[in-house]
Amino acid sequence: MNAPLSQPFSLPGLLSDADAESAWIDVIQKMDETYANLVSQQVELERKNAELEEAQAFIASVLGSMTDVLIACDRNGRIEQSNPAAERALGHPSRDLAGRPLPDFLDPGSHAAFARLCAAALQREGGSDVELSLRGPTGPFPVSVNSTVRYDQRGHAIGLVLVGRPIGELRRAYRDLAAAHEGLKQTQQQLVHSEKMASLGRLVAGVAHELNNPISFVYGNAHALRRYVDRLTAYLDKVHEGASPEDLAALRRDLRIDRARSDLPATLDGMLEGTERVRDIVAELRRFSSEQKHASERFDAAALLRSAVNWVAKAQTPDLAVVFDLPDTLDIAGHPGHLHQVAMNLVQNAVDAMAAARAKRLELHARQQDGTVTITVRDTGHGIPDEILGRVFDPFFTTKPVGKGTGLGLSISYQLVKDHGGTLTAANHPDGGALFTLTLPAAGRSEAAAKDSSR
Ligand SMILES: Nc1ncnc2c1ncn2[C@@H]1O[C@H](COP(=O)(O)OP(=O)(O)O)[C@@H](O)[C@H]1O
Ligand SMILES: [Mg+2]
Repeated sequence: MNAPLSQPFSLPGLLSDADAESAWIDVIQKMDETYANLVSQQVELERKNAELEEAQAFIASVLGSMTDVLIACDRNGRIEQSNPAAERALGHPSRDLAGRPLPDFLDPGSHAAFARLCAAALQREGGSDVELSLRGPTGPFPVSVNSTVRYDQRGHAIGLVLVGRPIGELRRAYRDLAAAHEGLKQTQQQLVHSEKMASLGRLVAGVAHELNNPISFVYGNAHALRRYVDRLTAYLDKVHEGASPEDLAALRRDLRIDRARSDLPATLDGMLEGTERVRDIVAELRRFSSEQKHASERFDAAALLRSAVNWVAKAQTPDLAVVFDLPDTLDIAGHPGHLHQVAMNLVQNAVDAMAAARAKRLELHARQQDGTVTITVRDTGHGIPDEILGRVFDPFFTTKPVGKGTGLGLSISYQLVKDHGGTLTAANHPDGGALFTLTLPAAGRSEAAAKDSSR
């Protein structure tokens, strides 16, 4: 049996040789163990130390890469720590800053604001967007400061941490933002303008096409009239010269005076009709395309729809079949110019969608029921794919090539209809093609609503 450890100092001479040897082995073993423990504690310590250094280096690199000024103060406003951005802003290394009151580095105008931040920290309150002016090496260095309260492990408020964003940078960011916003607004205005120009172009082309017919009619008749006038004048000259009845009879036959006389009323009627048509088109143009922003008036939506189709569709697509299923009149109160624009947009989109269609048919249907006028515009084009159905009213959404579509037609139309107290929705017809449905309050209803709201 081994000697107990409590006897390590027994004299070897008093023990048997074997016991002495075993006691020494125990001692050596214990020393080995203690040494091994010490080594592993040392390794652990070094590992922890390395971790600590790494954490410190990490924190230092984070603080170093911050562009915001960071200053930690005690409860009395003395600087405890600061980051490199603060060193640069104040023009002093951290070691010179530590322990000094922050107000030493503030412009006098900011002392009161800083005192309020310290007082708030004592009440365990932070502060945000407080403007402080630091005394930088080259002059005032304004920062927008957020302050937070710092607590010790027992939860006592022991100071405050200030994070200040240089206002110069904020101002530059704001300026950049404002410039980008301005650019965007301008592009938007240009697009709105180009949409306006495009619809004006369509209007002009449509009206020119519409005017072409009656004007050529009037022109042709005017030529005929000139010939009749020449012949009648020649005949009358002979009458006044006192020509013989035989000569006059021969001239009357040669100049086909009787024919000219009988044609005259019809020729004049034709001219009258042509000029009346021109007058009507001009009146329509005035009525439906004017920019009266404030005037709301009663008008016939059926006539408006017919005119939109005539002006837009017929001029561009001669092989278009148009089916009107409209009541004789549809009384609506509002801005005829705006609703004409909506109708022209819908018709133009339908015409575009049918560009490659074999059978091009546009159906306009309108009914009035319970104070609401419902108008549907259906085409036989490619229809609207389901995945974009929800986006067609978004501003600038277009599937048309650059230069052809601005993506504003429907979004503007949607707003105009909404301003009239109506709705505009898009769908596909079960038999193919797009189907747009427009509802508007009928004249009596919208006028009553307007009266109610003005009371
Ligand atoms: N009748 C229609 N048939 C098929 N797609 C349509 C129709 N009307 C509108 N769309 C779709 O809605 C999009 C947006 O229309 P719109 O706002 O008028 O802008 P734009 O005509 O300039 O493209 C069109 O690009 C098209 O994809
Ligand atoms: Mg369009």
